[in-house]
Amino acid sequence: MSEVPDKRVQGFRWQHISELSELINSLGSHGFREWPEGAEGLRTELETLRLDPEADIALLRSGDQLCGYALTLPEPDIDRVVATVAVAPQCQDDADHLVDFLIGRARSTNASRVHVAARGNTADPLAELEARGFSRITANLELVLPREQASRLADAELPAGFSVRPMRSFTETLRLTSVQNQVFADHWGFSKNTVEEVQARLELPATGPEHVLFIESAEGEIAGYIWTALEWQRDHTCGKVWMTGIAPNFRGKRLGTPLILAGIKHLLAEGAADVHLEVIEGNEAAMRIYSQLGFEKRSKTDWYEKRV
Ligand SMILES: CC(C)(COP(=O)(O)OP(=O)(O)OC[C@H]1O[C@@H](n2cnc3c(N)ncnc32)[C@H](O)[C@@H]1OP(=O)(O)O)[C@@H](O)C(=O)NCCC(=O)NCCS
Repeated sequence: MSEVPDKRVQGFRWQHISELSELINSLGSHGFREWPEGAEGLRTELETLRLDPEADIALLRSGDQLCGYALTLPEPDIDRVVATVAVAPQCQDDADHLVDFLIGRARSTNASRVHVAARGNTADPLAELEARGFSRITANLELVLPREQASRLADAELPAGFSVRPMRSFTETLRLTSVQNQVFADHWGFSKNTVEEVQARLELPATGPEHVLFIESAEGEIAGYIWTALEWQRDHTCGKVWMTGIAPNFRGKRLGTPLILAGIKHLLAEGAADVHLEVIEGNEAAMRIYSQLGFEKRSKTDWYEKRV
């Protein structure tokens, strides 16, 4: 990492993984993604993502104690760096050093934009971001459907010639990668996935091929998919729709609702107490489907941008 004048900011080293994990858990929900609870899970995720943790993560200390961090994830194919910066209350005054770190890191990759997610948590240093020229450009909405409501949903008929089937096994990873890249090609903030990345995600707990459903045409083409996941929390099992969509050449055929319903039913059968998903503000087709099924807004993640 580039040198930061304040000695309290330091580059992450793998030996800091437990401290970082504890800090992330203590800060509550923040940034552009949720992280696993334990240090080992965090290590696995950091190794899976397209970043170099020892260059892309900076830590902020107050005395001996870790009180903030910044993480940057370069996405050169869409000319951006996506970042998280979060600080505990006692270190809010030093958050600007972490913001400078992520701007410097973005510049060093030649990206023209840096995007930071903020969930309205006290850990999000919004004042420092705004002072450094970041402005809000869009938001992701988290929607939730409780089990009780989900279990009352009637089946939706699939248009003739289409069927829903589970992904067969890891042998279909290439098909999944291909349909995911087609579905999200024009979606805000989507960076094309490699087969290795999709494979790595499939290998994480409770989000493997058995949790992926495909919609297939009579000719055997994959028209859409829903990739779900289960998260075992202390008192309940949380169901998640990780990624879903219909390939562009199959849109407008009313495949959307049956696809989401198939995913919801799968999660209920796996014991999910509710179904969570995220949708970008202004995605009218997706919002129509979700609101008709009874999903309600739970929280919002704002995205801030700075041109660098
Ligand atoms: C969201 C998505 C799955 C919907 O599938 P689709 O094939 O386009 O839509 P459907 O034919 O199933 O129609 C579903 C509803 O959306 C409406 N709709 C479809 N396209 C629309 C558009 N461009 N604008 C507004 N409404 C639209 C339909 O009228 C229908 O509503 P209705 O039941 O009230 O008539 C699909 O557009 C998609 O994959 N988008 C890109 C990826 C994505 O956004 N995934 C969801 C992320 S959370």
